Parts: sequence; C-alpha cells; structure tokens
Amino acid sequence: MSEIKETFVIFGNPVAHSKSPQMHNAGFENIDYNGIYKKHLLEDGNTIKDVFLQNHYEGANITVPHKEFAYENADEVRGLANEIKAVNTYINENGKVIAYNTDAPGFLYAIESFGEVKKVLLLGAGGTAKAISLALKQSDIDVTVLNRSKGKLSFFEEHNIKCSTWDNFVAEDYDLIVNSTSAGLKDEYLPCPEGILNEVLQSASFAFDCVYGKVTPFLAKAQENDLKIKDGEDMLLYQGVLAFEYFTKENVNDETIESMRKALKGE
Ligand SMILES: NC(=O)c1ccc[n+]([C@@H]2O[C@H](COP(=O)([O-])OP(=O)(O)OC[C@H]3O[C@@H](n4cnc5c(N)ncnc54)[C@H](OP(=O)(O)O)[C@@H]3O)[C@@H](O)[C@H]2O)c1
Repeated sequence: MSEIKETFVIFGNPVAHSKSPQMHNAGFENIDYNGIYKKHLLEDGNTIKDVFLQNHYEGANITVPHKEFAYENADEVRGLANEIKAVNTYINENGKVIAYNTDAPGFLYAIESFGEVKKVLLLGAGGTAKAISLALKQSDIDVTVLNRSKGKLSFFEEHNIKCSTWDNFVAEDYDLIVNSTSAGLKDEYLPCPEGILNEVLQSASFAFDCVYGKVTPFLAKAQENDLKIKDGEDMLLYQGVLAFEYFTKENVNDETIESMRKALKGE
C-alpha cells in the first residue's frame, strides 16, 4: 500500500487561476517528495486556521483576499511578516500554525539580476507594496512610495517610508521603478500619469512590474526609454521556492528551481 501523501494547498477566492499547484507539484516530483499540492477555494478568511488544521494540511500558501486574515489567525508569525501584517505561507508545526511572508524576500531575489540598486520608486500602496517597501527598507535600499489615492499611505507614514500621491509628488533620480499597482493586469492603463513616468524613466536604469506573463504598458514605456525590464515571473517563482523550502524543510537546488520555473510557464 502506498504511503499517504502530505497535503499542501493554496487558499484563495478565486483560486482556479492559480499556478502554484503546478509549480509545487513539479518541485515535489523533482526531489521525489511524498507531497501533493491542491487548490482550496476559501470563502471566509476568518475560518482559515480551522480549515487548515481540520484538513490536516502540512502547509499552505495564501493569496487574495486572505493574506491579512491569515496573519491575524496564525498561532505564530515569523520574520518580516510581523511588520507587513500579511502572510502568504502557513506551516503546520506539531499542530501549531506558523506563518511567514515569502513575497517580500521573493521580490528581493527577483531584482538581484539587475545588479546594484540603491534608490527605488515604488508605484502603488496595496498589500504587495507593503511587503516590497519593508523588504527594501530592511536591505537599506532607499524607497519612495507613490500612489493614486491617499487612503493607503498611512501604513508607509507609520514606517517612516517616504510616500505621496500623484498630486504632491516631487521626482528625484531613481535607479529602479517598480509597478506594484494592478494597472496593466487586465487593462492597458499606466500606473501613474504619463508626465510623471516620463520624468522618472529618464534617469532610471531598471523597471520591474509585479504583473507577470506580459509586457504591460508600463514595461513597454520603460523599454522605449532604454531601461532594462523584468516582469513578475521571478517574484512569483521565488516566493514559491521559499515556501517550498519551508514545506519540505530542505534547501532547493538550481535543478529543482528550474523544474518549478518550467511548470509555472506550462512547459
Ligand atoms: N508576481 C508576483 O508574485 C505578485 C505577487 C503579489 C501581487 N502581484 C501583483 O501585484 C499587483 C498588486 O497587488 P496587491 O495585492 O498589492 O493589490 P491591492 O492591495 O489591491 O493594491 C492595488 C494598488 O494598485 C493601485 N491601482 C489599482 N488600479 C490602478 C490604476 N488603474 N492606476 C493606478 N493605480 C492603480 C491601487 O491604488 P488606490 O489605493 O488608489 O486604489 C493600490 O495602490 C497585482 O497586479 C498583482 O497581480 C504579483
């Protein structure tokens, strides 16, 4: 009789579109790990801990809109997630729910290929911007947040991160411009007014978009200005790789990472 597999899931609503199962299952297969990773459509985020434990899941990832609920319901939160106040990874440690945020270090890995980055303009102020801005700050990289509206800026003010809305923005010279807004995800909008973008793209060297799998209008404009560009695929991959290490309690090697990347691309 075959051994019962450890079960891992991604919680989200919706969750049907998620590529995490294909990525993690490819990783499990690559290292011959006795695990299976599935999708779990979760409607009420407040039930996340009970659902996780009652189903005997060994680990989980958490996506929109449950990252904050997952943070609030965990038994223990580790690392930068305590400041971000949102988590994307759960681990079952002897019946206790331990939570991490791997989006933040995943972003740092993804921008490593640009080389040295000292000053960043971060467009957007949502959950992803919170994780990215704190990861940059922790790495001593200067970060300024620019958002369409004022409502979400209080988090950044509380963490002493420079921030403004489009109306009162004064541009400086940045190495890297990051789009963490959802502009360009399902539409053809730029993430901020064209005038601002033209100004900051003139002196920047790199542009990164959290949206993956397409050249967004933001990346297209950066390319026109001769910036080196990158979409969000590596960020998605590395947050997955880091979660995979928590799941399997093993360090992944390059071959496993490549198997996960291929699966993500559907190759
Ligand atoms: N690659 C990855 O691994 C990865 C991981 C996480 C997220 N993402 C992507 O990152 C993006 C943001 O996710 P999130 O969870 O941070 O979303 P969120 O919490 O809903 O925040 C969305 C942000 O985008 C801004 N925004 C939305 N539409 C805009 C527009 N047309 N023009 C300018 N600003 C606009 C919002 O501004 P207001 O405050 O004014 O509404 C807000 O700051 C999404 O596209 C998501 O798919 C990628």
